[in-house]
Amino acid sequence: MALSTEEIVRLNKEYTLFEWNPQGGYAPLPIDRASGVYFWDTDGKRYLDFNSQLMSVNIGHGDPRIAAAVAAQMERLAYANPYAATEPRGVLGELLARITPGNLKKSFFTLGGSEANENAVKIARMASGKHKILARYRSYHGGTAMSMGLTGDPRRWASEPQPPGIMRIPDPYYYRCRLPISEDAFMQECLNQTEDVIKFEGARNIAAILVETVTGTNGIIVPTRAYYEGLRALCDKYGIYLILDEVMCGFGRTGRMFACEHYGITPDIMTMAKGLTSSYLPLGNCIVSEEIGAFFDKNTLYAGLTYGGHAVSCAAAIAAINVLIEDRLVENAAAQGAYLATRMEALKDKHPSVGDVRHIGLFSVFELVRDRATREPMAPYNATGKEMEVMNLVKKFFHENGLFTFTRWNTFFVNPPLRITRAELDEGLEIVDRALDITDEFVRG
Ligand SMILES: Cc1ncc(COP(=O)(O)O)c(C=O)c1O
Repeated sequence: MALSTEEIVRLNKEYTLFEWNPQGGYAPLPIDRASGVYFWDTDGKRYLDFNSQLMSVNIGHGDPRIAAAVAAQMERLAYANPYAATEPRGVLGELLARITPGNLKKSFFTLGGSEANENAVKIARMASGKHKILARYRSYHGGTAMSMGLTGDPRRWASEPQPPGIMRIPDPYYYRCRLPISEDAFMQECLNQTEDVIKFEGARNIAAILVETVTGTNGIIVPTRAYYEGLRALCDKYGIYLILDEVMCGFGRTGRMFACEHYGITPDIMTMAKGLTSSYLPLGNCIVSEEIGAFFDKNTLYAGLTYGGHAVSCAAAIAAINVLIEDRLVENAAAQGAYLATRMEALKDKHPSVGDVRHIGLFSVFELVRDRATREPMAPYNATGKEMEVMNLVKKFFHENGLFTFTRWNTFFVNPPLRITRAELDEGLEIVDRALDITDEFVRG
């Protein structure tokens, strides 16, 4: 390596801005190389990647099949203007129509998930002739203007005022339900309130409901099948498009190729990114139903990007999806996910600081509390500074012990690459077990 660790960090800090952080005290992890479920920092320390970087390297690190596909495409044709037809764009389009559910057919390629959601909203508005969009509070849909407005969590605040026409519907987050009612009753009440919002806003004004099928960074919120059957039915009843954001939960993460398969529903538009190329190259996509696609046979699609359908990114996506299928990684996510679920439930029984664990495939979260009875979070909603002291201890412990994962407020995640083995899961969970001893100390009473 040409530069020392200190020099790499210094250059990064002095000349680049880091995401979602005050820059001053921020200490980025200098990452050098990666293979399988591990990566190494620039000093040679190994980390078990329990978050697939940003819930996105689904096939695992360093797969030579992607490197070969990318190199071959790069040599043949690195870039063509987005009005042109290319082999990788066409082949990927057909592959996605085949592996997505129902009548989802035509892809509009973008650079990432934010732009996929931007364009999903534009397309829903053009095809419906209506403008309002219903979204949730506990959600993240991206960092560009519209996707930031769709986002419900506090990352939105600095971008406000949000674009007009976005209204909120309730989150199907049963653990935080305050009433002594069953999960089924709670989900039905979410649907009832959603129907109220539709009536208050006027169905004739609402283009779409846009939600993460399984909510990601806002806490792996896994609704019931009845909830999604009900949401689909509401959309059909009122002539509203259903847009499912599968940027994080798609491509095998939940143990099915797409999370909506667990619920037996098909959206009118689905957005995807991350696992689409397993993050080997940037690519997003917004795939629309045959009917919506047909609308644009006669109507101009007012959307476009210089890098739309980028040949090399499309080649990376084809290769990454083929690896998912050939190596049976979706099946592995389901099998290892079932094992992970039993281990997480056992850790919850053992540690009083664990209020809830939620898991579907290899998409999972520990939610920590100071008191199981009141469910007071270990760190408050949108906690910063001193409020994050306990969670920062957990973060530090993970780091020192070579476990990389994502901690947020009172939660931390277990979202490893889908090729993880039971032994590798055990290796990480042993560290998690010891970290929970720390948080147990802060349980009241
Ligand atoms: C559910 C969801 N949607 C959209 C996005 C935005 O995607 P990107 O960062 O690729 O623009 C993210 C990113 O984390 C996401 O988790």
